[in-house]
Amino acid sequence: MDPVAILERVIAAAPQAVDAAGSLDELEDVEASLLGRSSEVADVRRGMSTLDEDLRPRVGAMLNEVTERLNGMVAARRAMLKRSAETDRLTSESIDVSLEAVRFPLGATHLIQQTIDEVVDIFVGLGYQVASGPEAELAWYNFDALNTPPTHPARLESDTMYLDWGDPGDEVLLRTQTSPVQARWMETHEPPVYVVVPGKCYRTDTVDATHLPVFHQIEGLAVDEGIVFSDLKGTLLHFAREFFGPATSVRLRPHFFPFTEPSAELDVSCFACDGDDPGCRVCTGAGFLEMLGCGMVDPNVFEAVGYDPGAVTGFAFGVGVERLAMVRHGIDSIKHFIDNDRRFLEQFR
Ligand code: DAH
Repeated sequence: MDPVAILERVIAAAPQAVDAAGSLDELEDVEASLLGRSSEVADVRRGMSTLDEDLRPRVGAMLNEVTERLNGMVAARRAMLKRSAETDRLTSESIDVSLEAVRFPLGATHLIQQTIDEVVDIFVGLGYQVASGPEAELAWYNFDALNTPPTHPARLESDTMYLDWGDPGDEVLLRTQTSPVQARWMETHEPPVYVVVPGKCYRTDTVDATHLPVFHQIEGLAVDEGIVFSDLKGTLLHFAREFFGPATSVRLRPHFFPFTEPSAELDVSCFACDGDDPGCRVCTGAGFLEMLGCGMVDPNVFEAVGYDPGAVTGFAFGVGVERLAMVRHGIDSIKHFIDNDRRFLEQFR
């Protein structure tokens, strides 16, 4: 076939083929088909030597021109494809700063933990250490070491949740108080002792406005030479004023606990009415609020843990965390603490 006709057809068809290449890869295929070793242009170039002398210069010139124009078309298309690939990338990677951000709700410390932290801080400020113990506890630590005889009603299954019941030697229960950590700490530490113990406690209580089967206490224990009852009262007065406000006063009422002698309950003056409002909603006119149990450590407890009751004395107390928080914030039901209603929880962020 006539080489001139071939080249004219190639150059006429080329723009459509080049424009049809939608990607750089496709363009490479088109380039190979137009200019590569098995292209028609290459065929014409290989056939040059067989052409008539008079035709050769014209075909040669045309060959050069066609090659140059084909190269130009491919280069232009390549530049265009590169630009649009870049634009695509920039578009797909761009961030629209005007879009509303996805907001992850931020959690907050639960009021019970906040209360624990605050009480612990007050005692740490007095030099107390923070101790902890197991929630699954031996009956020995929960009761016997704390001078609580086997016949004590609190040991009944109707009050205490047992994990392993029956053999008095190694009964395991869910601790009903944080007091067993007193015994555990003293067993493993020499006096002087100044510790506070926050933690969970368990009792077979039915849920009502003031009871949960799982609740929190903070235990306190101070053992040293020459500790007397006024140390107990002074320490708890300091605590009450830090927690409820500087105008708070305290009152001790005789009570009974197996592990303290004498024992008392501590009431704090009503921070809402200060005892002046017979119709007060917080103290219902009593003027005082029951707050915690306390007393001087019973010598039998010292003996159980290997301390010499002739050498040291001490005081202990145990306070319910839920009750502290309820009194301070005027919360009417203990159930709010476990309902996980955000309308309640968010008030204490
Ligand atoms: N463990 C007692 C209770 O749960 C509270 C208590 C009273 C703790 C007197 C003490 C204490 O350390 O001395 O009711």
